[in-house]
This record gives sequence, structure tokens and C-alpha cells, in this order.
Amino acid sequence: MNIIRRRGWEIPESRATPEEWFFNRREMLKAAGLATTSMLLPSLAAAQEADPSAGLYPAKRNEKYKLDRDITEERFNARYNNFYEFGGDKDIYNAAQALKIRPWMIKIDGMVEKPFEIGIDDLLKQVQLEERLYRLRCVEAWGMTIPWTGFPTKALLDIAKPLSSAKYMVMQTFRDPKIAPGQRQAWYPWPYTDGCTIAEAANELSFMVTGAYGKPAAKQFGAPIRIHQPWKYGFKAVKSIQRITFTDQRPKSFWEALQAAEYGFWANVNPEVDHPRWSQATETVLGEGKRVPTLMWNGYGEFVADLYKGMDKSEKLYM
Ligand code: MTE
Repeated sequence: MNIIRRRGWEIPESRATPEEWFFNRREMLKAAGLATTSMLLPSLAAAQEADPSAGLYPAKRNEKYKLDRDITEERFNARYNNFYEFGGDKDIYNAAQALKIRPWMIKIDGMVEKPFEIGIDDLLKQVQLEERLYRLRCVEAWGMTIPWTGFPTKALLDIAKPLSSAKYMVMQTFRDPKIAPGQRQAWYPWPYTDGCTIAEAANELSFMVTGAYGKPAAKQFGAPIRIHQPWKYGFKAVKSIQRITFTDQRPKSFWEALQAAEYGFWANVNPEVDHPRWSQATETVLGEGKRVPTLMWNGYGEFVADLYKGMDKSEKLYM
């Protein structure tokens, strides 16, 4: 596929995280007198106040999932996002505030006992929220650690009731070019789509995220519901999900549809296999600027390596 338009995270490693302000943002913000969260994120605070699920947060932390790094401060994370619906740059946080997150319906269809639609607040009534500290490793060689709140994807499977013949769970984001300028760029295969196997969805690590930093997720994080599978590259983490389809056909993701030579279905973090245009051996820690070794399965091998036993000969598990 011939893609002439360069996407923000498809840049050589030398330019993958080049912004000096990103590495030294703490100092720059201090210098500008903008060091407090309330001064930094006024529109976010307003958006969160209006969220009817705010009373569910903070949820109790599940201590099973430990980190070997500090939590990335919200002020870094909240202003450095990939959300192409709102633009190809990282600073989409303002544009993302146009997303209307209530009412928010999620359609469950395909190979399920009975297709249905459910509102996000009704879904939240059926699950137990918990907080988990998880890493995120973006394919473009930066990483962060986030206190997500949400519920295991396994609980969603229990509600959705896929048929035993279903093999994959496919997630799609909203489509609304009126509020999402990126969706007016017709060369992208909107809506943003990605998926996983049912076995991956049922893995205890797979998490439906509805909150972060002890409150409902900010819109740029993919409110009101996204997925996060911390052993996979971040592009698998579909934000602002509106449709979940169960199928026996392997889905083609947004990025795979654009560039199949570089992005595939599995996208498991693997520091030993470079991206065609940059190394995956190390990653820049968001907000800190230091470069650290990337871990196999992003450090989650004990939970997930068994899922892929014997598949490495037939599948490119790292893309
Ligand atoms: N989901 C949607 N709908 N649109 C996107 O552009 N970008 C993905 C993923 N989910 C994306 C998305 C990519 S490339 C990454 S790295 C993560 O979201 C980034 O999540 P974050 O902005 O919360 O760090």
C-alpha cells in the first residue's frame, strides 16, 4: 500500500520522540508558571464535573498488578495522546473536548446469543470497578505507566455472551466527522477499529478502561470506555468504543488496513524485533525523558506468554 501521508507516530526513531518540551516539560512548565494541574487542565476539570459516573471513582486498587516505574504524572499523559479522530499530532486534548460522552450507547453484535445495545451507565452498574497500575508501550518507542480504572474484559464477555464459534472480538470507535476533524480525512479507514482473540480478551490482564487517575477518563484518553491490553503496542487500545462485534473472521485493524507491511493483528511488544523504520529495543519514559530497555511482552510474560505457545512459526506475533 502506498501511503504518502505520514502519520504522527510513523516517523523514524530519531524523530519518534524528538520534542525537547516533552523530555523536559516539567522544567518548561515551571518556568512558564503553569505547574499546577488546575491551571493546566481547566477544560478537563469542567468536563469531568459533568460526568454522571464521577461518584464511582476512585475505585479500590487491585494490588496484584505492580509497576517497576513511577506513575506518569497526569499532566504529561493528558497532553500527549494519540487520537487520530481529533488530529495527527499529540496535542489533541483540546480538540477532544468536543466529544460528547453522554448519552453513550455501545452496540454488542455479531456472533452472540442475542445482539443488544447498552448505555455506558447501565454497563457500569453491571460491573465492579477497580484500579490497576499498568504500563503502556506505544509502537513509536515511548512508554508510560497509568493508574487506570475499569473492569476486566472477561466481565464484558460474560455480559455479551459470545457464541462458542466466535473467535475474535472487534472494537470500533465512534464516527462523527462533525466533531472529529480527523474523520474528515477520507483516506483513513474510519471508524478506528482493532480487535483481539476471545482468548486474549478473556486473559486476566485485558482491561476495559473507564477511568484514570482516580476519576472518569478524560476525553483524550478515550472516554467513556476504551480497552487496554498492556502486553501489546498501544495502537491496539481502541478508544471511545461504540461497537463490539464477535466474529470468526480475523479483523483488519485501522493501521493494518493502511500499512499491512508494518502493522498486523497481534502487535505484542517485542524488543528483539525492530519496527521496519526504528528500533524497538528501548523506549523513552513519558515525562522523564530517560531511555530504558523495553521488556518482552512489555514485562507481562508471566500472564500472557502461554497464550501464544507454538504460534511463533506461523504468525508474526510482534506486528
Ligand atoms: N483509539 C482511537 N479511537 N483512535 C486513535 O487514534 N490511537 C492508538 C490508541 N487508541 C488511537 C486509539 C494509539 S496509536 C495509542 S499509542 C494509544 O491509543 C494512545 O493512548 P493514550 O493517548 O491514552 O496514551
